[in-house]
Amino acid sequence: MSTSTWDAPSLTTRFDEVRAHTERLAAPLSPEDQTVQSMPDVSPTKWHRAHVTWFFETFVLDGNEPGFRPFQDRYWFLFNSYYESVGPRYSRPDRGLVTRPGAHDVGLYRGNVDERVRELVATLDEGALEKLTATIELGFHHEQQHQELLLMDIKHVLSRNPLEPVYAGRPHEPVEPDPMGWVEVEGGLVEVGHEGAGFSFDNELPRHRQWLEPYRLADRLVTNAEWLEFMADGGYERPELWLSDGIARVRAEGWRSPLYWVEHDGVWLEHTLHGTWPVNPGLPVGHVSFYEAEAFATWAGKRLPTEGEWEHAVVADGQADAAHSGGNLADLEHYHPGPAGPACDGHRLRQVYGDCWEWTASAYHPYPGFHPPAGAIGEYNGKFMSNQMVLRGGCALTSPAHARLTYRNFFPHGSRWALTGVRLADGGAPRPTPGEVA
Ligand SMILES: [Fe+2]
Repeated sequence: MSTSTWDAPSLTTRFDEVRAHTERLAAPLSPEDQTVQSMPDVSPTKWHRAHVTWFFETFVLDGNEPGFRPFQDRYWFLFNSYYESVGPRYSRPDRGLVTRPGAHDVGLYRGNVDERVRELVATLDEGALEKLTATIELGFHHEQQHQELLLMDIKHVLSRNPLEPVYAGRPHEPVEPDPMGWVEVEGGLVEVGHEGAGFSFDNELPRHRQWLEPYRLADRLVTNAEWLEFMADGGYERPELWLSDGIARVRAEGWRSPLYWVEHDGVWLEHTLHGTWPVNPGLPVGHVSFYEAEAFATWAGKRLPTEGEWEHAVVADGQADAAHSGGNLADLEHYHPGPAGPACDGHRLRQVYGDCWEWTASAYHPYPGFHPPAGAIGEYNGKFMSNQMVLRGGCALTSPAHARLTYRNFFPHGSRWALTGVRLADGGAPRPTPGEVA
């Protein structure tokens, strides 16, 4: 999935950086914090730390390290996430029941595998290393994916604690929203999908053509202030705004606000990674499901962009390079969406990378001509291509090295624990007005 040039020293340096960053993220968390699973979608911190280690042990060491033996036989079972071809695995919703190995012992596991991977990379001959490089690089990106999940998951864990614990960071001072502007895009026959020598996941390929009608995109994300208007206008109670599955979910789960909002004495408060604070009107709304994003767009008389529209608009705006976007990604350590701020460097779209993953109107399906790689690694993405929607752009918990123009994140329609927000679109293929379609 990459033709990047790596040699043994650069691979080892990158390996050490990625592995150390996971430990830095876990460092503020006690062993007790690291053990809790607050709902089935959430995994305990120590499970993330162990599972990314299992990934290197399974896909890099096994079959390549002379005399390979697993660090611990049963870890094979415990820390396999979803790879059927590797073997049976422990039940995902029960990960929080596993008190042993503890956080300290997971550290020993990590240290052992780290040493063995370094040793392997240093001793493989050039040809063998070249064959293994793509898998090692996939391991880097896999671990960065879990670094983001670790933060999303601990946010949910800490949200269940009435002591309102702080993970890190400080709240942004209260801000009013900037007016929402619109960026016109001509459309036409455009190319979508990854190109070039850099890394991509298999699901970003093949690059292919799409036809786009003229459209426009909002120049910033939807704010909390706009979401409060939607709520005040009965947004969660009006079935005409919702997909059928969406309103059923609203009613079944009693949704009346984004996931982490609670009303206290008539004031809406929001749980964040830096504690519980009044909802800040000028910041992007986060932790809304696809259903909510879609209902909001309907209420606003707009729609969600398709993933092709999103990608093409970002390229047309000169923002294809995510690594130098200056977006609110995890390296800034805000760990929360920020205000849109003024447009910079002549770009018109704001908040493209970082802040919140942006729901699109596109179902997560294979691109034309997509074929997952052979073997267990083929299970990484392809088998999830049903019943999920694509999100673009990254969020405030995403590593900058992990944000990418063509990155296709995906979650089920009702998911709210990921840091997900909304950018509106308009024009292009218009919605039929009520009454036009029987
Ligand atoms: Fe994983």
